[in-house]
Amino acid sequence: MGIMQSSININNNTKIVGVIGHPIKHTLSPVMHNFAYNKLNLDYVYLPFDISTTGLQDSLKGMIALGIKGFNVTLPHKERIMEYMDELSDSAKIVGAVNTVVNDNGKLLGYNTDVTGIMKTLEEYKDDLKGATVSVLGAGGAARSAIYTLIRHFNVKKINIINRTVEKAESLKDYFSSKMLFTKIKTFELIPPDVTEVLAKSKLIINTSSVGMSPDEDDSPTTIPESFNSKQIVFDIIYNPENTKFLELAKEQGALTINGLKMFVEQGARSFELWTNEPMPTDQILELLSKKNEI
Ligand code: ATR
Repeated sequence: MGIMQSSININNNTKIVGVIGHPIKHTLSPVMHNFAYNKLNLDYVYLPFDISTTGLQDSLKGMIALGIKGFNVTLPHKERIMEYMDELSDSAKIVGAVNTVVNDNGKLLGYNTDVTGIMKTLEEYKDDLKGATVSVLGAGGAARSAIYTLIRHFNVKKINIINRTVEKAESLKDYFSSKMLFTKIKTFELIPPDVTEVLAKSKLIINTSSVGMSPDEDDSPTTIPESFNSKQIVFDIIYNPENTKFLELAKEQGALTINGLKMFVEQGARSFELWTNEPMPTDQILELLSKKNEI
């Protein structure tokens, strides 16, 4: 961890950015951003701020008072922070979550760069996804980002939302049909034998649920091999572990698999760009973080 930060040269012009959340211990964002600032010789430092729910509004006042240039926003603030923004990007508005704040001389602009992360990750499969049937596992905030991206940027034909709590899937269906006028959504309860065929018939499956995330690495939204096949793209937004049980199983069936590391780096790259106007060296960061996860 320490190797990258050691060469930061803090001086009278150093600009501060960071991440607010609670808990904040596990985020890889400081390592990623500070590595990039060093690589590009940019005079920025990225700090983690552990902010509880009751401290959210004060943290934004502090941000303005201290001239902090921007924040990433993580759990549990992504949704509640919206009310404090002066402006929201279209994607933040529709997804209903902000993960990046830009402090534009005291005016707070809210963005959702998770959408960019998902878009960049799937960009190379754009032709395959046009007109396709896709399945999204989960119905939380990450699912909303994924569904927005699939509708807005990939022209998919049909979306299946599969969730443990089917009512939440249904409310997402209603939401996207009214907000984006996308009506080709079906909902299913996550009962693996019941959804095997639905999954098998999907060109793309995205796991946006937290099932399989460290420390519960033995869990998987489904363990039924017939859910997968060699014509599919299977994307798990989890990056710790890099190879979830879900992805392992899909890979065994010949599917093309993608883990959450690229999405994580690309969402960070978009935030980085919003704050600095410079592109982030994403290839070097992917390499750095893949190595880190091996340790
Ligand atoms: P995020 O913002 O990261 O999407 P979230 O809003 O808490 O986080 O959503 C987590 C998702 O993972 C939900 O879809 C949740 O299912 P429920 O809507 O039924 O709660 C899903 N999830 C979490 N733990 C799960 C489990 N053990 N089995 C099945 N689904 C689970």
